[in-house]
Amino acid sequence: MSTPLVIAISGASGSGKSLFTENLLKEFSEEGKTVQILREDHYYRSQDHLPMAEREKNNYDHPKAFEHELLVEHLEALINWKAIEYPHYCYKTHTRLEQTEHLISAPVIIVEGIMLLANEALQPLFDIKIFVDTPLDICLLRRMKRDIAERGRTLESVAKQYESTVKPMYHQFISPSRFTADVIVTQGGKNRIALDVIKSHIQQSLL
Ligand code: C5P
Ligand code: MG
Repeated sequence: MSTPLVIAISGASGSGKSLFTENLLKEFSEEGKTVQILREDHYYRSQDHLPMAEREKNNYDHPKAFEHELLVEHLEALINWKAIEYPHYCYKTHTRLEQTEHLISAPVIIVEGIMLLANEALQPLFDIKIFVDTPLDICLLRRMKRDIAERGRTLESVAKQYESTVKPMYHQFISPSRFTADVIVTQGGKNRIALDVIKSHIQQSLL
């Protein structure tokens, strides 16, 4: 049996990478369980040992915020057709949930997250690297709406975090990582042509 095809989808927070991943998944949803999705944010390190005020101050936009060692381990397992215990994460409490999810492998594995192309150890595991490139002002507007509606934040906290870590870390780590990508997708998660091109590449690889 051939090994699964692993696709990394990266880009800034609010760039549309989660939506692009969802839309790509929809393309394959009628074809049985062909695609499995992993989200890098599920691999944020646990903050259980810290009080809430400390958790809020953490830099979540530095590569070290993620337990990439575990993500590498899980990807290696899935590539070898082994199942994993997929962690779950809560943005409101900034920490990992106790419950994990038993996840089996699939012919196509999509990994989605901000820091995927900035970590050396992950690169050999990816067959296709995609960078979703969206102007930062659009990313920020999306992030504000989402973080207030879904992640329990205030306008002030989003603005403060953006200035102190999100923006500087984007310029230091995420933006330069685009040069390692095979494909750069503009216009965010709904780019129909990019979806078609990547879908047909995946289909070719599955033949
Ligand atoms: O979905 P998205 O790519 O936007 O998720 C990554 C973002 O989540 C990072 O930019 C980070 O600042 C934010 N984050 C957060 N609080 C956490 C963990 C991550 O605001 N506890
Ligand atoms: Mg996301």
